Amino acid sequence: MSNVKRTRVAIVGAGPSGLLLSKLLDDHGIDSIVLERRSREHVEARVRAGLLEWSTVELLNEAGVGERMMREGLLHGGFALAFDGRMHRIDLEGLAGRPMLVYGQTEIERDLADATGDQVVWNAHDVAIHDVDGSAPRVTYSADGTHNELRCEFIAGCDGYHGVTRKSVPTGRIAHYERTYPFGWLGILADVPPVGDELIYANHADGFALCSMRSRARSRYYVQCALDDRIENWPDERFWAELKGRLPAEQAARVVEGPSIEKSIAPLRSFVAEPMRFGRLFLVGDAAHIVPPTGAKGLNLAAADVRVLHEGLVEYCRNGRTTLIDEYSERALSRVWKATRFSWWFTTLMHKFSDDAFTRKLQLAELDYLAESPAASRALAENYTGLPFAAQRRAD
Ligand code: APR
Ligand code: PHB
Repeated sequence: MSNVKRTRVAIVGAGPSGLLLSKLLDDHGIDSIVLERRSREHVEARVRAGLLEWSTVELLNEAGVGERMMREGLLHGGFALAFDGRMHRIDLEGLAGRPMLVYGQTEIERDLADATGDQVVWNAHDVAIHDVDGSAPRVTYSADGTHNELRCEFIAGCDGYHGVTRKSVPTGRIAHYERTYPFGWLGILADVPPVGDELIYANHADGFALCSMRSRARSRYYVQCALDDRIENWPDERFWAELKGRLPAEQAARVVEGPSIEKSIAPLRSFVAEPMRFGRLFLVGDAAHIVPPTGAKGLNLAAADVRVLHEGLVEYCRNGRTTLIDEYSERALSRVWKATRFSWWFTTLMHKFSDDAFTRKLQLAELDYLAESPAASRALAENYTGLPFAAQRRAD
């Protein structure tokens, strides 16, 4: 016997995509229920990048969850490229007219979860989607020992790369585009002041390194490592030595070492699923696409999908028009592919792929060109801060 519930939009996944979509719909008086397989504590404990494009900042403020972000977030007007023993600053505000905001994804999750209230079902198991091609899709799941059926008008698959919704689409109806990279990122979190006021992306003969931060008192560092490497091979001492060895001497001397409070290795991949809509099912965020973290696009692409989808759902729920939801997949993918290209380009430019001397010379020549050419730097700045949204077609 199933416990039957009803909502207008069933959302699978309570990551940034799912919670932001639910909050925006709620603000427009549209009922949704979010089904999350993990606990709130587990979801909030995930350590993820929080480098926000200004359009993401605006959307979070529009959703009414930006107060702490604007108070505690760090405005970044630029970042540095380190290569060949030198530094070159990319002036984001001067070149692209907008900054980035550093504010951890953990904090965004917390702000969203605080604001989304009881429409989130945590620890929802065995989620399965049904009848997405009809006008009465359903989601079944179990929670607190009860089997439930959620009847709805739309399903948003916000359940990430490993989720169930994309995998529910018959293989003949969906195309996967993928590229994996022959290395990983070893990341640590440490309660030490960051090496500088802005991020540093380093291209070094031994491999890539990134100096980032969560606050003025908590640093986030990464070094490129072998794909099959293990964190057991990286005691803190080795990490700090390797990080400093990949930075120019002046920056290396400013690194403040301390005990790691988190250490992990992540593989890198580019992945896009097309299309992003199947009848009443919409794929959102990591459920539809994954980018290598080099360009810090993951969260921003998820927010961009949510922006476009919520506009379409609001239009439909208010006046029955389907213009914007019919455009969702095309508009979302237009942005996704441009960000996928940029993230692939930046990853290829900054990482060591082999010992091939010719490839390294090409990388250094391109970095030299970026440092000398305002046009090249502007292209980098435009992509890094986020491209403008494609104008939506005028709703009929
Ligand atoms: N049933 C219910 N929930 C599920 C299921 C399932 N079968 N599978 C996955 N989930 C949940 C996960 O536990 C997770 O909380 O869906 C959520 C997906 O969240 P994310 O993976 O964070 O994806 P998204 O919300 O699109 O956010 C993208 O998060 O992973 C980072 O780098 C990524 O910054 C980007 C952002
Ligand atoms: C991070 O702070 O985790 C971070 C920042 C920038 C990136 C990737 C990760 O490009």
